[in-house]
Amino acid sequence: MLSVATCKRIEVGAVRGADAGGTSGSTTGSADDGGPTSDADGASSEAGSDAVVVDAIVVDAITLHVTGTAGPGCTGRRPEGMVEVGAPARGTPSGRWLARAAALEAASVPAFRRLARELEVHGAPQRLVRAARAAVAEESRHTILMARAARARGATPRAFRVPPMGVRPLLAVAVENAREGCVRETLGALTAVYQATRAADPALRAAFKEIVRDESRHARLAWEVNVWARSVLPTRVAHLVDDARREEGARLVSELACASTAPALARELGLPPAAIARSQARHARQALWAA
Ligand SMILES: [Fe+2]
Ligand SMILES: [Fe+2]
Repeated sequence: MLSVATCKRIEVGAVRGADAGGTSGSTTGSADDGGPTSDADGASSEAGSDAVVVDAIVVDAITLHVTGTAGPGCTGRRPEGMVEVGAPARGTPSGRWLARAAALEAASVPAFRRLARELEVHGAPQRLVRAARAAVAEESRHTILMARAARARGATPRAFRVPPMGVRPLLAVAVENAREGCVRETLGALTAVYQATRAADPALRAAFKEIVRDESRHARLAWEVNVWARSVLPTRVAHLVDDARREEGARLVSELACASTAPALARELGLPPAAIARSQARHARQALWAA
């Protein structure tokens, strides 16, 4: 189980052989309205408390112990073809960071809607389809939380546009899931854990606690989709999914190698120092993504 008793340590438990078990018009959305729309079943979450307990992230025979991690710009599942429109957000540095987070959360809404549709068409277990639909509503809620915090700091999130796209072949779905879910959403969940206890503003800590609970489920969903997709893809192409995950993990480590976070910004938002972020991303790459 992934449990965050005090949000200081994360355990990603090993689950070997995990139970794995359309077309849409162009979408325009913004973080101001919680993303484009919501069609989810809704989702449950534990009652808020200082101790945050979330579900396990399912990986294959891996145990990872992490003491916080980070990844600016790593807070969502980006849909293919997403284009941000309008001027970059203004406001305080923390407001701009939160506005960027809100935009990424908003972009996750159509990404999960598309994933749910594609999983259904490709015959994935219904519980995976339901989890993807639930994530639509959760991402919409995250958008509202981040946009509210951004606006309180004088920043307005950018809008974005997602082109119309039909149901893609399963390989394309699995590759995107590996990059955006197994790598970026997984690290995003761990980042939120760090922020949930270290952000200076109690309201922000509460928002990140809520995000932690949901994002941990999203990360688990990504790994479960990964297990299922690899089990049904032809062997001759399944390795391409692993290649994509490794490549994205390497890219993320590379991005963090060049990243720096102003100390004041890190304190206000609870972001880990860059050295810790780099260390943890390398650890995650070694233990999770490069496997
Ligand atoms: Fe989110
Ligand atoms: Fe998510």
